[in-house]
Amino acid sequence: METRVWKMPGDKPNLAMLREAAQLLREGEIIGFPTETVYGLGANALDEDAVKKIYKAKGRPDDNPLIVHICKLEHVKELVKEITPTALKLMENFWPGPLTLVLPKSELVPGVITAGLDTVAIRIPAHPVALKLIELAQVPVAGPSANISGKPSPTTAEHVWQDLKGKIAGIVDGGKAGIGVESTVLDVTGKVPIILRPGGTTREQLMEVIGEVSLDASLHDLLAVPRSPGMKYTHYSPEAEVIILKGTSHEQAGKIYKILNENKVPRIGFMISQELAAVLPKNLSENIVLGILGRQGDIEAITANLFDALRWFDQKNVSVIYAESFPEINIGAALMNRLLKAAGGKTL
Ligand code: TXA
Ligand code: MG
Repeated sequence: METRVWKMPGDKPNLAMLREAAQLLREGEIIGFPTETVYGLGANALDEDAVKKIYKAKGRPDDNPLIVHICKLEHVKELVKEITPTALKLMENFWPGPLTLVLPKSELVPGVITAGLDTVAIRIPAHPVALKLIELAQVPVAGPSANISGKPSPTTAEHVWQDLKGKIAGIVDGGKAGIGVESTVLDVTGKVPIILRPGGTTREQLMEVIGEVSLDASLHDLLAVPRSPGMKYTHYSPEAEVIILKGTSHEQAGKIYKILNENKVPRIGFMISQELAAVLPKNLSENIVLGILGRQGDIEAITANLFDALRWFDQKNVSVIYAESFPEINIGAALMNRLLKAAGGKTL
């Protein structure tokens, strides 16, 4: 299949182009589109055959449910059984934005979206191009990240092209996704909301608005079965092995020096901050590849660059990537969750 690309001039919504993309969505095709977190792969959420195309194109296990994207708060009503006061408060405070709420689903939502669960995950993305596309499509849009399952999520249209060209009808190019990690998935079906996946909305921000917020046990206990089906799969893995460096920045620098001295593997990558790069020897040998994520103090920039860096290292043909670790506060919690998954839990 030919994959069309609509490049939004100035990364702003272009009505004529978005009408074409929206029309294809209405006809049951699947389309890559930008959001503020990562690029999504959209389908009409009410069209089962269209939704099945998503699973096929991504190679996604069919027990892993999808997020439904809407463009206005009033559209949530038809998709859910009830909206508790806490859920409403969260919607009013964080939508549009990188927060996905898991709610009891209505009859309207097909089982193929929710992988047979009686809950549905919903969010309003904070990206003008995504909002306009959904509005023009006039249907709720199912959208997982637009990558081949298991690969790092796409933060540019180019990443979507690398993974899905020829398999999808089109890609709406709205520039680089600003946040760079996916939305926070929050289960609000129980008494105390539970974070199933840390993401763009931080636990700290949620607690400021609703008080108590717990973390799914699987986020700190590797043996616990995650409540979110998607969290049990290997994720974000580049071809290279990823190993996370532990300890203070000083200790991590010491570990890098040791690796440089041993220098066993043909090509070694270091995915690190500017600060750590600055303390390394100036004359590194040719088989050492440095990928600089940003300044340690700018954890948002580091997070925004993570997935792109993982893909970049693959093009550099490194066999192992040693990754700097960062404090797990604010967005750092989502960053370290993705890194730990990319590493399959391996640390040094
Ligand atoms: O930022 C994002 O959330 C991006 C953009 C495109 O919106 N989307 C995204 O979708 O990351 P995906 O499919 O890659 O991840 C959705 C996550 C998975 O871990 C899935 O298991 C979980 O949400 N999920 C979906 N529906 C659920 C439900 N009813 N109950 C529990 N977890 C659910
Ligand atoms: Mg994903």
